[in-house]
Amino acid sequence: MTVIGVAGLGVMGLGIAQTYAAAGFDVLATDTEAGARQSALQRLRAGLAPRVAAGKMTAAALDALCARIRVVDSVVDFTPCALVIEAIAEQIEAKRALFHAIAGAVPQAVLATNTSSLSVAAIRADLPEPARLLGLHFFNPAPVMKLVELVETGADPQALAVARALTEGAGKVVIDCADRPGFIVNRCARPYYGEALALLEEGHSALAIDAAMRAAGYRLGPFALIDLIGADINLAASEQIHAAMGGHPRYHVFDALRAQVASGDLGRKTGRGFVTGPTGPDTVPPDTIAPDPALALRIEALLANEAATLLEEGGVTAKDIDTALRLGLNFPQGPFAAAQSWGAEVVARELARLERAAPPALKPRYRLCPALIPALEQARNAP
Ligand SMILES: NC(=O)c1ccc[n+]([C@@H]2O[C@H](COP(=O)([O-])OP(=O)(O)OC[C@H]3O[C@@H](n4cnc5c(N)ncnc54)[C@H](O)[C@@H]3O)[C@@H](O)[C@H]2O)c1
Repeated sequence: MTVIGVAGLGVMGLGIAQTYAAAGFDVLATDTEAGARQSALQRLRAGLAPRVAAGKMTAAALDALCARIRVVDSVVDFTPCALVIEAIAEQIEAKRALFHAIAGAVPQAVLATNTSSLSVAAIRADLPEPARLLGLHFFNPAPVMKLVELVETGADPQALAVARALTEGAGKVVIDCADRPGFIVNRCARPYYGEALALLEEGHSALAIDAAMRAAGYRLGPFALIDLIGADINLAASEQIHAAMGGHPRYHVFDALRAQVASGDLGRKTGRGFVTGPTGPDTVPPDTIAPDPALALRIEALLANEAATLLEEGGVTAKDIDTALRLGLNFPQGPFAAAQSWGAEVVARELARLERAAPPALKPRYRLCPALIPALEQARNAP
């Protein structure tokens, strides 16, 4: 029986443990906090109780799922594990120390980090066998979101094969990616928020921008999504990618986001945000705002251009980028497919228009990426 180890029983760790256990794997899980260890199975049960109540899961299946997860005192108990996934705090020193302890306790296991923003190379740097460690980036909520990004740079092919097979065995779509800031999804998603914030600063309302994106098929508009994530978390991610990408204007951090964070109205967690009020998110009936397709074109042109910059860096295909954004963000289609629907010429014209209109400091934000048009042509000619 293959055993999976999970270190860290917060939001992500518990979700990852549930994911593998639901697929029939035995899971050993731990956390440095006694409270987190003691409450883990209770939290898991509480999270699944509505499914049981709705008849979508039997009580017996829930019992069987919980029986496959054994909470242990520390990573020293991970000896039988074939794969150990770390989902602790996003701090490099803590992750390095933890992997040292795990590598000593489980000399054979493949090691994986669920980091969102740290470099996998930096986490593994001083491990005795660094190539055993790779990235397995799950999305929240882990049991629901289909996508896992497999960060392969510098990892042993055998370790990658094991991590891929076990994670696909847990029902996930695993997409390879390079060890780059934001990997695929968090990098390519930047314009969804950034260009919406640019439009807001130009005087469009958050509700109108959200309405345009919903009409284009997106389940949540950019501002409803920021409210869900938390404006503070979104700002931290935006600043982190902006810095990691050398401050390029494509990742410009808009003042409207900083101001929102400074106001304290962070979104759902504070009960008020860009489009969230005391009665919930976006309470304006959809038909009171006529969606403006021009707003959607602008955001989708920027999404495709950003995806093209990642494509240009290599190590990923246009098809994988499209799949990753569909499955990692619930986008109705990936950025290349969306641009394809507008047509390459329309998208290129929109970028040129935006570049002309932008203030000098932001002009490079809109510059057409040389890889975009060939990628769209290739997609059009693909069988
Ligand atoms: N929350 C998300 O949406 C999300 C999505 C993808 C990836 N991630 C990444 O997943 C990781 C965990 O995020 P989270 O949101 O679950 O955090 P969290 O704060 O909910 O949980 C972290 C848990 O790790 C425990 N912990 C801390 N140090 C530990 C150690 N040395 N050994 C064992 N347990 C330890 C903490 O007690 C806590 O229970 C981070 O690296 C984060 O960047 C988060």
